[in-house]
Amino acid sequence: MKPSKLRFGVVGIGRIGKIHIENLVNRIPGAAVVAVCDVAPAELAAVAARFGVGKTFGDYRELLDLPEVDAVVICSPTNLHYQMIVDAAARGKQIFCEKPIDLSIEKVQAANEEVARRGVRMMVGFNRRFAPLASKAKEFFGHDPGPYVINYRINAGPIPKDHWIQTAEGGGRILGEVCHFIDLLQYLTSSTPETVFAECLSGSSQKIPNYDNVVITLRFRDGSVGQIAYVACGNRLLDKERVEIFGDGRSFIIDDFRTGAGYANGSFRKFKLPGKGHKEEVTLFLGSIRDGLPSPIPSDSICYTTAATFSIIDSLQVGLPQHVSIG
Ligand SMILES: NC(=O)c1ccc[n+]([C@@H]2O[C@H](COP(=O)([O-])OP(=O)(O)OC[C@H]3O[C@@H](n4cnc5c(N)ncnc54)[C@H](O)[C@@H]3O)[C@@H](O)[C@H]2O)c1
Repeated sequence: MKPSKLRFGVVGIGRIGKIHIENLVNRIPGAAVVAVCDVAPAELAAVAARFGVGKTFGDYRELLDLPEVDAVVICSPTNLHYQMIVDAAARGKQIFCEKPIDLSIEKVQAANEEVARRGVRMMVGFNRRFAPLASKAKEFFGHDPGPYVINYRINAGPIPKDHWIQTAEGGGRILGEVCHFIDLLQYLTSSTPETVFAECLSGSSQKIPNYDNVVITLRFRDGSVGQIAYVACGNRLLDKERVEIFGDGRSFIIDDFRTGAGYANGSFRKFKLPGKGHKEEVTLFLGSIRDGLPSPIPSDSICYTTAATFSIIDSLQVGLPQHVSIG
């Protein structure tokens, strides 16, 4: 008899791994966590006990070998994602991988090809497009009335240069985090980035890379333009994210994915819809498996996001706008 719940294994139980486990165990009907894996044994035992997970592993391949694992959630440092995807696909597991898939466009494409070849689904954790306020903004503008002007400010705060996110494990914050905001812009415009231009601070901080304070302009294929101001040198008391969307005589503001406001036809409406989309993205992924639907984010869109982040770095290096293309 087929199990009534989709059974997940989670690899990497750090910051985001715990968020996914908590959602899968407590907030997503039809999901169960049957195994967890991490290289930190004490934390692994604590998380397994807290969420009542029966099996723990230090080697992710042993978790993947379990026949009762239907799907894997990969939340390890980024440089490990690609091999974990390949190994999971080889065992026929459905895959949810945290963003970014990898730190090279070639491996992102290879991972997409591998999951297609093995006939499994792969979802990437670009959660913001599934946030309730992102859905509300999309609904507010109706059916594709672009092009849009979008202004996205992220008061991200500093991360020291020696943290794994800044090293070869994480690839830095443009590859590792700015990808989120490019993905949201793709969703809001229903388009893909064509060119990018970026400028960063030219300070001499020993602690924070200049690339962590960056202003990026993107032109989209539908004629939309977006600006991303990613800031590590701000004050923590200020909210992290504000998105301002303009088009077709309308405006929509998202304030830190908690509140929003839509302006149209001489009046405005406020919305209180908290959440960054973590629960929704996994719920949709689960539904896509159950109903045999494609993965909730098209693979081309994922490749464009990765390509755009690399083009941002190229632009910073050469000081010129860069074309964004995928192979
Ligand atoms: N979508 C989001 O909102 C979001 C937020 C944060 C991080 N992320 C992404 O999630 C990934 C993890 O980030 P994090 O902030 O949770 O990092 P983290 O450092 O908090 O957690 C990473 C975990 O992976 C474990 N790990 C390391 N090597 C491993 C291995 N070989 N096998 C199993 N586990 C291993 C570490 O012990 C740690 O517990 C990154 O790719 C990051 O970009 C996504």
